[in-house]
Amino acid sequence: MTAPVFDLTAAREFVRGLRARPQPGTAAPVDWADAPWPVKVYRAAPELRFADRSEHSDRGWVLRLLTEVVGVSRLVTAAGRTMARRPVASGGALYPTEVYAVLGGAAHHFDAARHELVALGPAPADDGVRLVLTHRFWKNLYKYGDFAYRLGAVDVGVVLGRLRTVATAWSGAVEVSFDFDDAAVHTLLGVDGEDEAAYAVVRVVPPVDRRAVPAVPACAPQVRERSAVVNRSAGVLAMQRAALAVAPAIPPPAALVGERIALPPVAPVQYRAEAAHRRRSSGPSFSGAAVAEETLAAVLAGCADPHLRVLCAVHRVTGRPPGWYGYDADRHALVPLRAEPEPARVLQSALYRPSMDVAAAGFTVHLAGGLEFTGARAWRIQQMRVGTAVDGATLTAAARGASAHPFLGFDASAVDGHYGLPAGTGTLAQVCVGVAAGAPVLTGRVW
Ligand SMILES: Cc1cc2nc3c(=O)[nH]c(=O)nc-3n(C[C@H](O)[C@H](O)[C@H](O)COP(=O)(O)O)c2cc1C
Repeated sequence: MTAPVFDLTAAREFVRGLRARPQPGTAAPVDWADAPWPVKVYRAAPELRFADRSEHSDRGWVLRLLTEVVGVSRLVTAAGRTMARRPVASGGALYPTEVYAVLGGAAHHFDAARHELVALGPAPADDGVRLVLTHRFWKNLYKYGDFAYRLGAVDVGVVLGRLRTVATAWSGAVEVSFDFDDAAVHTLLGVDGEDEAAYAVVRVVPPVDRRAVPAVPACAPQVRERSAVVNRSAGVLAMQRAALAVAPAIPPPAALVGERIALPPVAPVQYRAEAAHRRRSSGPSFSGAAVAEETLAAVLAGCADPHLRVLCAVHRVTGRPPGWYGYDADRHALVPLRAEPEPARVLQSALYRPSMDVAAAGFTVHLAGGLEFTGARAWRIQQMRVGTAVDGATLTAAARGASAHPFLGFDASAVDGHYGLPAGTGTLAQVCVGVAAGAPVLTGRVW
């Protein structure tokens, strides 16, 4: 497909549209019968597949890590359709993020369905492991059209956040890069950068001393694509090409002004696999019961990021009147922005698809950021940071026995006005948190 590289003005217009209209927008009706698989699959011979999860080798440790974060954990059949579900949340449960592991002199793809590493080809030997997170565009583009570009960047951030949390909890050292040599990384993985592109490279040092012996195929295995027709979007392609250029970071929002109300101190949340696996955003919605202020305090602390502004609308939190608040992470304090008896009414009408009763949640977190566009790559990094904060909120809620539901499908400008955000700052994602109306289980036949 011939597509221009967006200049700054065109790219700015494109992302403005993605925030203003966060909803499916495909030119043609969605062809559900020709949908892609939610997992990327290679035709690889058994000798190129590694399922060994030994605790003592770097390859086994990485395989356990990837299975814990993005491995398919449930198959659910409802209304005749089977869906693969994973430990992390994902817009529309489409899981557009792929993860590759470069270790022991070979590049591998993580097969999320089979929980295996598939050797793709040789890689420079290194004293650690590099994980590459990509966005495979068609996996969510077929349903969401151009909105998939924003959803996908946030989704990659969710996976990145979870990888960092679990790897650190398992005593691994982690270092994240958003700026790298795109062409070199794409060549290493055998992806073209236009249907699938690398967004983040994570250097991991596993706490093990045995290095895997590489198996390097003579030629890279072929990808199996389920869709007979794979379309591209001219806008997404032009953004992706623009994102190859490094851009200055989007400036963080200005500090909040006003009174500070100290929140109860909270210890950092320890990663617990059982809590993370129990987490569901779908399933029964919220019960309408009040949430403890400690839960609010822990969730706000769990998603703090100096590049973003963390805000919250309180509906039912013990000891805290309803209204719109900011969070000051340095002082672990709430900043009252506006009292309002029913902020949930505003949030309910701001939802594009009113799939749940917002008022029944205890509170809603909003992640806001600078809207001053400095470049496509900087915007993509900001969206990934939002995703990481979303996962922080979700995991912290789960650790405290609460339920959390992330949303990108809401009218952001309507919400900005209620927080009284200054021009140039806007909400980018929301997470409703509350007491689940029942056990957070999947409905349908669970395999
Ligand atoms: C980036 C992102 C955006 C999402 N946006 C919405 C949304 O607009 N509306 C909604 O009902 N759910 C939304 N979700 C929740 C997903 O639909 C949900 O995570 C997915 O169906 C998988 O279910 P699970 O979280 O229970 O595993 C979003 C999730 C993520 C990670």
